[in-house]
Amino acid sequence: MNHAAKTVFVQGASRGIGLEFARQLAGRDDFAQVLASCRDPDNASDLQDLAAKAGVRIIAMDIEDENSVRSAAELAAAQAPRLDLLINCAGLLHDASGISPERRLDQLDPAALLRSFAVNAIGPALVVKHFRHLLQRSDHAVVANLSARVGSITDNRLGGWYAYRSAKAAQNMLTRCMAIELGRGGHPVTLVSLHPGTVDTDLSRPFQRNVPEGKLFSSERAVSQLLTIIDGLGPQDSGRFFAWDGSEIPW
Ligand SMILES: NC(=O)c1ccc[n+]([C@@H]2O[C@H](COP(=O)([O-])OP(=O)(O)OC[C@H]3O[C@@H](n4cnc5c(N)ncnc54)[C@H](OP(=O)(O)O)[C@@H]3O)[C@@H](O)[C@H]2O)c1
Repeated sequence: MNHAAKTVFVQGASRGIGLEFARQLAGRDDFAQVLASCRDPDNASDLQDLAAKAGVRIIAMDIEDENSVRSAAELAAAQAPRLDLLINCAGLLHDASGISPERRLDQLDPAALLRSFAVNAIGPALVVKHFRHLLQRSDHAVVANLSARVGSITDNRLGGWYAYRSAKAAQNMLTRCMAIELGRGGHPVTLVSLHPGTVDTDLSRPFQRNVPEGKLFSSERAVSQLLTIIDGLGPQDSGRFFAWDGSEIPW
């Protein structure tokens, strides 16, 4: 990717990996503008601090609500003539309402499945739907969708985690479909799915006990590894699924 005075939009930047993407990108000279979204800016104090210190612009967006995504795209268009990089970070594995990864089929809950699909699969695709015009104003924009290795059907040997695994598999399919459609024409957009590794955030915290020594990454390390991959992406990579070390993950 050529980085002359580019603009990036980080979706899902209140905490975790998204917040760290906003922080690292705000510190780079090649990105002139960093826009970052979260669903509740008044309660995103770390992102507010970053905005005050590093000039990141905050836009409210709840990816479970298409009207909110549409409004956020309009606000982004008012701030930036084009987008060169979009990073879709928001994801859901568990929450305070009782959503938690299933161990057995008995635990399958339709409401939890729908919510997982809404946040992990449908939301990121809606963001690309409404931001595509801004992306297509760049000569060659990149969209990085934060996925997870457990969304690989080929790699699934343990089972369980029904909602999260299947929602991430659906997200991967949506990424592939969008990569094909947006790869056509004069202003092709490169879209990839990325697995960050196991990263020390709220999402992984209840499940960190069995992570092998040295394999639990800080957000700083995970984002720096992912940015190395993103920086090297070209049109030939569109529609592919990469892990944090650059290796390709089978669908
Ligand atoms: N951490 C890991 O080990 C790991 C491993 C593999 C893949 N991933 C993927 O990496 C991505 C980032 O994960 P993370 O570890 O940074 O998770 P996290 O710390 O739990 O943060 C999740 C983010 O998603 C946002 N979010 C949730 N629902 C949303 C909605 N409806 N609209 C807008 N934002 C919403 C949260 O915002 P609020 O603050 O408003 O809740 C928060 O900013 C996710 O897609 C995750 O699946 C993470």
